[in-house]
Amino acid sequence: MDNVEMEEFVNAVRERSDIYEVVSRYVPLTLKSGRFWACCPFHEEKTPSFTVTPDKGIFYCFGCHEGGNVFKFISLMEHITYFEAVKLQAERLGIKLPSRKKTSEEIKFENEKEALQKITSFARNFYHNCLMNSKDGEQGRKYLAARGITESVIKEFCLGFAPDSWDALTKKVKSQGFSEKQLVAAGLAVEKKGGNGVYDRLRGRVIIPISDIAGNAVAFGGRILVNAEDQPKYLNTPETEIFVKGKMLFGLDKSSRAIINANTAIVVEGYMDAISLYSVGFKNVVASLGTAFTEEHAKILSRYARRIIFCYDSDDAGQRATVRALPIMKNTGAEVYILIVPDGKDPDEFIRNHGKAAFKKLLDNVTPFLDFQFQYKLKHIDFSTLQGKMQVLHEILPLCNEIKDTLIQREYLKKFSSVLLLDENVILEEWRKISGRPPNEKKVAPKNFPKTKVSLISQAGVSIIKTLWHEPELLNYVNALVPMENFINIHREIINYIGKCYEEGRTPDTLNSARELSPEANLEISRIFGNTDPNEAQMLAFHDSIKIMQRVELEKRYQNIEREIQELSKVGDIENLNLKILNLIEIQKEITEL
Ligand code: GTP
Ligand code: MN
Repeated sequence: MDNVEMEEFVNAVRERSDIYEVVSRYVPLTLKSGRFWACCPFHEEKTPSFTVTPDKGIFYCFGCHEGGNVFKFISLMEHITYFEAVKLQAERLGIKLPSRKKTSEEIKFENEKEALQKITSFARNFYHNCLMNSKDGEQGRKYLAARGITESVIKEFCLGFAPDSWDALTKKVKSQGFSEKQLVAAGLAVEKKGGNGVYDRLRGRVIIPISDIAGNAVAFGGRILVNAEDQPKYLNTPETEIFVKGKMLFGLDKSSRAIINANTAIVVEGYMDAISLYSVGFKNVVASLGTAFTEEHAKILSRYARRIIFCYDSDDAGQRATVRALPIMKNTGAEVYILIVPDGKDPDEFIRNHGKAAFKKLLDNVTPFLDFQFQYKLKHIDFSTLQGKMQVLHEILPLCNEIKDTLIQREYLKKFSSVLLLDENVILEEWRKISGRPPNEKKVAPKNFPKTKVSLISQAGVSIIKTLWHEPELLNYVNALVPMENFINIHREIINYIGKCYEEGRTPDTLNSARELSPEANLEISRIFGNTDPNEAQMLAFHDSIKIMQRVELEKRYQNIEREIQELSKVGDIENLNLKILNLIEIQKEITEL
């Protein structure tokens, strides 16, 4: 493929891409004054500053200044290169990449995959048809009805039934021109011992198709009709070229929209849990399919929602699986919650026994990550002894350290203190020991309050001087709000000059200043007045500039206190430390309010 062809291809994909549609796969967008808004997926924020302008085909974040076209967006979201993003989007739109000569290997691989896909699609229809229309399927229909699964849910999930026969599927598939080898490759059939022929893997079971994100069947789970000791409850088709368990979340093809809209995903363990929640209206649900929750799962989910609610079985195995999954999910930066189903039930049973409204109540009262971890530790560590208390503390404090909001952090410390019956000071001291630094220092880290850049301070100075030059009476106002020392040197010199003129009853002018000020300050004055008089827009900038300078002052105070905290923590002066921390929180608040 040559460059012209490539350019045409990229243009074609761009033209057919709707940036609104693409972005809203990942973040929910709200229309406001001609633009779509969302909380930025590229930096942390609580109020939306991320925008999409569909008619221009661009996105832009006023907070982190990330911006660009649809491909840039996809590449950032999926952590892939620009061109990979073009290809991904082309694939989603069904636009074929201009053909490059493929190696015979590639052609073979693609053909095999395509054949696999065809067989699994065919099998899904076959099983579904058996369930809906055959005499054999009647047992399946009865089973599902007894579980409260309606016909519309059966259709939506394309549930099926595998007849209790050794070759019902095999025969059918072969009659379509597929080979036994292909059936085995798809995991649908198993080779007979001795090597003559194959037999159906799934027999006499209700079939749950597992689909990829595009909705293509890639694997199947088969549930036995009557639980039996000598048979697995579920039999699943194995991993294949098109089915990798650790990357697959059951239901995501159907639930992705609802997950994006709610900015929340509910993760359950079993197919039936997912189907059950979905069918009563909690559509933002996926199941991790009995395998351990992987980093890949976490990464996928984090693209769709910020809040993730784990709702595993409430038995020991389920809770252990939860505890293992939590940090994996947490590491993506998601807000993680846990829904604990009461009375030892899984979510499906709970809904069947108590109804939708009762489950909604549970959803409204999910347990935050840290509370769950704390409760879990309390359950598994005997904290009646001092040693036990300390162990709980040592295990929970590092997790608490991750919390960004200092006020919330302190709430937790209080909670630990009251539950473990330990003095708060002891907890603070332990924290210091564990992390080698006082609590809250992390929050204080410059990351949250990037220091105002000198260039910005300089811009603010220019704007303030522009205004003061013509309205020197505002000097008192500026003085009251901003200490002069925070201006850059030449600006301070110019402002002092303006002040002097004002006191002496003369107007500042460039002729006099040339005599009275340093060459640098004069150069700056000519730079500043290279353009227009102050107008309304300029006044606005003036007030913004005052705010910038106020912020600079607060940042300075902040840093000083930080330094003092370090000193206090070295000498272990907890009491003053706490005061200083409160001080710090106040300044933080002031900065935020600016
Ligand atoms: P029901 O008893 O039908 O309600 O099952 P469930 O959806 O509640 O599933 P459960 O919590 O028992 O198990 C969770 C998931 O683990 C299931 O959805 C299956 O994916 C998987 N699983 C359960 N039992 C087996 C088994 O015997 N073999 C295999 N391979 N997977 C199983
Ligand atoms: Mn169940």
